[in-house]
Amino acid sequence: MQYRRLGSTGLQLSALSFGAWVTFGQQVGRKQARELLSLAWDRGINFFDNAETYNHGEAEQLMGDVLVDLRLPRDSYCVSSKVFFGAVEHPRPTQRGLSRKHVVEACHQALQRLRVDYLDLYFCHRPDPDTPVAETVAAMDLLVRQGKVLYWGTSEWPAAAIHEAHRVAREGGYAAPVAEQPQYNLLHRERVEVEYAPLYAAYGMGTTIWSPLASGLLSGKYDHGVPEDSRLAQPGYEWLREIALGEGGARAARVRGLRPLAAELGATPAQLAIAWCLANPQVSTVLLGASRREQLEQNLAVLDLLPHFDLALKQRIERVVEGGAG
Ligand SMILES: NC(=O)c1ccc[n+]([C@@H]2O[C@H](COP(=O)([O-])OP(=O)(O)OC[C@H]3O[C@@H](n4cnc5c(N)ncnc54)[C@H](OP(=O)(O)O)[C@@H]3O)[C@@H](O)[C@H]2O)c1
Repeated sequence: MQYRRLGSTGLQLSALSFGAWVTFGQQVGRKQARELLSLAWDRGINFFDNAETYNHGEAEQLMGDVLVDLRLPRDSYCVSSKVFFGAVEHPRPTQRGLSRKHVVEACHQALQRLRVDYLDLYFCHRPDPDTPVAETVAAMDLLVRQGKVLYWGTSEWPAAAIHEAHRVAREGGYAAPVAEQPQYNLLHRERVEVEYAPLYAAYGMGTTIWSPLASGLLSGKYDHGVPEDSRLAQPGYEWLREIALGEGGARAARVRGLRPLAAELGATPAQLAIAWCLANPQVSTVLLGASRREQLEQNLAVLDLLPHFDLALKQRIERVVEGGAG
């Protein structure tokens, strides 16, 4: 495993990390969750990502049970939660958002579900138009001072709101956000590469990027339709199916050229897509998702591909996805 600093912090995260969205509590039960977390940890993954909203708290509950079960030394891994959407299916106004009340209560609930004394990372899952940024920054600072949160960050905040959070933190002497958690993959690049470009140097922010495979699309598994047991066939995720495949399957068509290129290198399309994310130096860690062991094994093997990953290959991959010849 490779380790990278989270932005300018001293926290060394594994370059590949592991998250629970969709899978834990829906596709993956206790036995499989144990197998996946155990494999991840054995291979050097030291960051497990979660959120209050993932399967309405069940994903955190399951991860917490498994972390206790595996008896992993608490100082050997990092675990996160995210606050905003709420953990219950129909949250009341105080059960969601980024008010001081919900940020603090959601943290306490996440600690209970995950069965830990502190969160290594705590993210604001989206910006909250109904709460002043200053209130959220102060709430995060409170949790940091109480030792319940070690580092905090944002997820999918517009750059302007992140600037504002840093201004408030600087002027008030508060703990500032140290990382963003944005979507980043071959089909979704703008925010990480353009919008956030000024943030890295200005604030030393790191990134824990999500959906490196665009929900599995970049593995090529949707090249010939939607397999029954796949994410895009999951009940409740019809909205995601439309976004992931694109109108008339346009996004699915864009990734078909990755397979021959991957075959040429003795790799899989998923490995190429993940290696491409890792090649961006602003990426602190690539959050992997997996519904089964073989996927995680395959994705972890991307580390063997990295020594062969140069600018020419990166550009070939980009040309294929942009519709040109590789
Ligand atoms: N902050 C946010 O707003 C946000 C949003 C989304 C995710 N996240 C975090 O980021 C993590 C990763 O995101 P993601 O799960 O969307 O990542 P992803 O890598 O884009 O998708 C993972 C899914 O793709 C399929 N897959 C993975 N490897 C494969 C392989 N080698 N071959 C074929 N299929 C493969 C599996 O789904 P199936 O087997 O079910 O098809 C797996 O669950 C999440 O768990 C979560 O922690 C954060």
